Amino acid sequence: MWEYCAEHDIQVDLGSDQTSLHNPWAGGYYPVGISFEESKQMMADYPEKFKAAVEASLRRHVAAINKLTAKGMYFFDYGNAFLLQSSRAGADILKEDGSFRYPSYVQDIMGPMCFDYGFGPFRWVCTSGKPEDLDVTDHIAMDVLKEISDHAPAEISQQMRDNITWIKGAKENHLVVGSQARILYADCEGRTKIAAEFNKAVRDGRLSAPVVLGRDHHDVSGTDSPFRETSNIYDGSSFCADMAVQNVIGDSFRGATWVSIHNGGGVGWGEVINGGFGMVLDGSDDSDRRLRSMLFWDVNNGISRRAWARNEGALFAIKRAMEACPELHVTLPNFAEDALIEKMFE
Ligand SMILES: NC(=O)c1ccc[n+]([C@@H]2O[C@H](COP(=O)([O-])OP(=O)(O)OC[C@H]3O[C@@H](n4cnc5c(N)ncnc54)[C@H](O)[C@@H]3O)[C@@H](O)[C@H]2O)c1
Repeated sequence: MWEYCAEHDIQVDLGSDQTSLHNPWAGGYYPVGISFEESKQMMADYPEKFKAAVEASLRRHVAAINKLTAKGMYFFDYGNAFLLQSSRAGADILKEDGSFRYPSYVQDIMGPMCFDYGFGPFRWVCTSGKPEDLDVTDHIAMDVLKEISDHAPAEISQQMRDNITWIKGAKENHLVVGSQARILYADCEGRTKIAAEFNKAVRDGRLSAPVVLGRDHHDVSGTDSPFRETSNIYDGSSFCADMAVQNVIGDSFRGATWVSIHNGGGVGWGEVINGGFGMVLDGSDDSDRRLRSMLFWDVNNGISRRAWARNEGALFAIKRAMEACPELHVTLPNFAEDALIEKMFE
């Protein structure tokens, strides 16, 4: 399709690729010109031949995209390892300095707009399995966000408005698949206040059973993934798994009911470490203490690291967190001109 658009001069404004390139040799990407059945046969009987066909296809794929971006298309990586696998296949996807020609959507969008400020996909599940309970949680979350929104600084006011719109329309848009669960983008303040209100509602019977909290790995903290979640962290720390491990261990000590640490999710084996948690809110005082302690760590830990990497939004957010909580002391980076640093290494 890209080749067709390039050859026929069809103007494309915005482009990405959503093949499953985190799994390139076992069915995540089907090479051009080879049928589905033939591909399946080839990957089982002649894996090396199949790998060569995928790589040749990726080189063509990138060549066509390059033609379209030369005519003005904005192209971004969707977090499916497209840039990484194309570079490994020898496609024309690198700049002279070895970096990718195109950004990951986290570099341009999710990082600076959401993660650096602590906004990420906060989740909850109503263990009763009752839609009525989910309704109650939706209303609680909406009320909390509205209240926070009234005093939110300009830097995050659009986020707040968007998230209120989302939760308002969640039921009507049938966003539940199976479990009575919800995902709502929220920052540290939002997650903590919403969770505390859920806990109260379990205690006073407005909710008929405990609520379980969680989040995606595609979030502020918890994950080290240089080609996705941490691709807008430019201090080099995204290439080791220290933060994912530190975060998940902190979550476990601070009261998570369970934690997990795993490898691979979404961008491929060996390319990412993800940490996650589950937290049961049973209405007790203990749950209240745990949620405050753990959510504070889980979000601010990632913001701190993003601030050390000198990300503007994260510097704003961590300074704000320190004002709100005087016990929090996070070192702040010192800025120096690149030329000065380069001179030191001459
Ligand atoms: N950015 C995010 O938040 C995010 C979220 C979910 C998934 N992902 C990543 O996106 C990728 C896709 O996920 P998914 O759940 O949509 O996978 P999927 O397997 O459901 O869809 C991939 C599609 O690509 C098609 N395809 C394969 N080779 C092709 C080719 N050469 N040309 C055109 N189409 C081709 C397949 O037929 C399939 O329909 C995964 O790598 C996943 O990790 C990113």
